[in-house]
Amino acid sequence: MGLLIRNGRVITATDDYVADVYAEGETISRIEKAIDPKTLPPGTETIDAKGKYVFPGFIDPHVHIYLPFMGTYAKDDHGSGTKAALAGGTTTIIEMICPGPNDEPADAFETWKSKADAGACSDFTFHMAVVRFDDLAKAQLRELVGSHGVASFKVFMAYKGALDINDEHLFDLLTMAKEMGVITTAHCENAEAVDAMQKRLLAEGRTSTEWHERSRPRAVEAEGVHHLCTFAELTGAHIYTVHTSNIAAVRNAINARLRGVDVWVEAVIPHLTLDASYAELPDFEGAKYLMSPPLRDKVEHEPLWAALRGREISTIGTDHAPFDFKGQKDMGRDNFTLVPNGIPSVQERIDLVHTYGVCAGRINLHTMVDACSTQPARIFGMYPKKGTVAVGSDADLVVYDPNDEGTFSVKTALSQTDYSGYEGFTRKGKSSVVTLRGTVVARDGKYVGPDGGGRYIPREPTHF
Ligand code: URP
Ligand code: ZN
Ligand code: ZN
Repeated sequence: MGLLIRNGRVITATDDYVADVYAEGETISRIEKAIDPKTLPPGTETIDAKGKYVFPGFIDPHVHIYLPFMGTYAKDDHGSGTKAALAGGTTTIIEMICPGPNDEPADAFETWKSKADAGACSDFTFHMAVVRFDDLAKAQLRELVGSHGVASFKVFMAYKGALDINDEHLFDLLTMAKEMGVITTAHCENAEAVDAMQKRLLAEGRTSTEWHERSRPRAVEAEGVHHLCTFAELTGAHIYTVHTSNIAAVRNAINARLRGVDVWVEAVIPHLTLDASYAELPDFEGAKYLMSPPLRDKVEHEPLWAALRGREISTIGTDHAPFDFKGQKDMGRDNFTLVPNGIPSVQERIDLVHTYGVCAGRINLHTMVDACSTQPARIFGMYPKKGTVAVGSDADLVVYDPNDEGTFSVKTALSQTDYSGYEGFTRKGKSSVVTLRGTVVARDGKYVGPDGGGRYIPREPTHF
């Protein structure tokens, strides 16, 4: 069946015009000033988008759904996590496959993919975390790239003894990634420094959540970015720093870019909208806001938004990593290092960017689309199938009402956590209708699509 979206204001990374958009099956087949309905097949579904924006489906480049981490598992499954994404206008997620240090990459890929195949309602693809780099792992990683559509790796420089990779392996991995045309995404915090600082604080009796930020201050992350960029300079690898939380770290990436390093920078919505004071909330409420890198001083917000405006920061993701307050976060009531790290935000991202970015005058609509859809598609090899509104692209579309006002609450959140990090935050704008490959899957913040139906998006290495 066809789908006609009439009279909407189509906004892409570069264009802004009023038009009708028609999807035949899963693909956009016509974009015209006024499509005569008589030229369309009977049964075509029509959506009136007058006064609303028509955005390309948003892509979240940094999501955790299935995540064994810090002695527990993240709370969402692929059904709840992707329904939350779609209700908020995100039609494709890039999930991190995070195996343990003894797991084989091929098994991990199968585990994550089978879970997503069975439950995902949005489209999905994966960054493959590399936590071991022996001969077997190398061979399996080559196979995953060669025949299973994996085109990006992930390394953790943090989380000593759990997920971190040593310098010898980092160098060898980047060398292999360069040869294969695979971009390497990285969590840049120096694991040894964090470990030493955590031990020192705990020995001093500083065990509450407010000490989390001080155990991994900005310098730890800035050093991590510099370190990764140096290794990329030596190997020629293409790199991407995930959840970059402070401007000193961003500056190190920009400096590396000026030296010729191919580095892209991601910000995530919690670092743009929340700050370190949340982690200091009394009665252990601060635990809800523990993530790594930590929420920073509010003074970081404006420079991060400015770097988005200037396009030095390419993308805005979420780092959606949902853990309950009761039963999970409270494992660290007496020791902040035991609080599972992460804040859910896959549903809220787009409204937060619109409210606190666009409506606040910090970025324009084109930058919003570029950072939340087009650049994730381009950098990770999905463009122009995803990431824009064009004839031939997947009919992943968001009809967005820029004037709808409301507040966020755990009551309307589809993620399964028992709290929302944005409880009571106001929003301006809401996804009225969300389509995934031509099918309406969400209306007015509610999921209305089928259970499942999300599709794996295999990707090709770029051969830079
Ligand atoms: O706090 C975070 N970021 N949790 C998820 C794991 C990661 O580092 O991305
Ligand atoms: Zn991380
Ligand atoms: Zn993450």
